[in-house]
Amino acid sequence: MADRPILLHELDALRKQIGAWRSAGESIGLVPTMGNLHSGHISLLKILAPRVDRLVASVFVNPTQFAAGEDYEQYPRTLEQDAAALRRAGCSLLFAPSVDVMYPAGTEQATSLIAAPDLVQTLCGISRPGHFDGVVTVVARLFNMVLPDRAVFGEKDYQQLLVIRRMVSDLAFQVTIDAAPTVREADGLAMSSRNRYLNADQRRRAPAIYRALCRIVTEIRAGQDDFAELEALAAGQIRDAGLQPEYVAIRRSVDLRQPRVGDNDLRVLAAARAGNARLIDNLAV
Ligand code: PAJ
Repeated sequence: MADRPILLHELDALRKQIGAWRSAGESIGLVPTMGNLHSGHISLLKILAPRVDRLVASVFVNPTQFAAGEDYEQYPRTLEQDAAALRRAGCSLLFAPSVDVMYPAGTEQATSLIAAPDLVQTLCGISRPGHFDGVVTVVARLFNMVLPDRAVFGEKDYQQLLVIRRMVSDLAFQVTIDAAPTVREADGLAMSSRNRYLNADQRRRAPAIYRALCRIVTEIRAGQDDFAELEALAAGQIRDAGLQPEYVAIRRSVDLRQPRVGDNDLRVLAAARAGNARLIDNLAV
């Protein structure tokens, strides 16, 4: 195993390396990230490792998916540690472009994509207008830069996973998307780079989101079918823990629509604020 993954910042160098692997008949897996890697990110590499010859990770804090007033400036940037963690996970190449490399015409004037409206005009898309447009735009650019055979995304960001799967299908990208289960702290809190915004008190309260989701899953499995009541109860539980719930929603797993009678492939999703941190989580029923 190489001492460190090859670290590249420029597109020409990336294309040259990818081209060399492709000419040698090697398949390529991509793990797109914004860095500040934790065990959740590393689990994505582990899922992809047996399925491809070369693991490529990208670290890019994408300005176009942050709205004004969000945490773009504060977002933790820890490239040195990230490179070390990627090496231990068997990553061959770390691509860490600058904003200029990713958006040569600037972010305002660049050609960009619109995420599937039916998937976006709900849940996180409501409080973060434009967020998923920025995500699909940057992921499409990464796919065109790396030309991966497979790419993996976490179920932690379940709406994002669906939005990307739709982009791949709608725009006929030749890439297979794998989904990775959510990795959690011992107390249930979903791992996230944003957890580092929590102070000790908020950190103690934060697992209330996971507990509220677990309770909904248990109740639905036990036959409770008043979903509006379950959502309201869970929001109350999150509020009682001292967090500010943004939504708690029971939705169809395939398209995030409201379930109809007989729908049984369901997902429960929640977003809540703890101080300045916005936390999201979800569970399959
Ligand atoms: P980021 O938040 O860095 O997440 C990178 C990938 O790691 C995403 O696919 C995300 O779902 C996954 N992930 C994060 N926390 C996880 C956890 N606890 N368990 C499992 N997977 C987890 O998501 C983004 O970056 C960006 O939007 C990106 C797709 C890179 C586009 O900019």
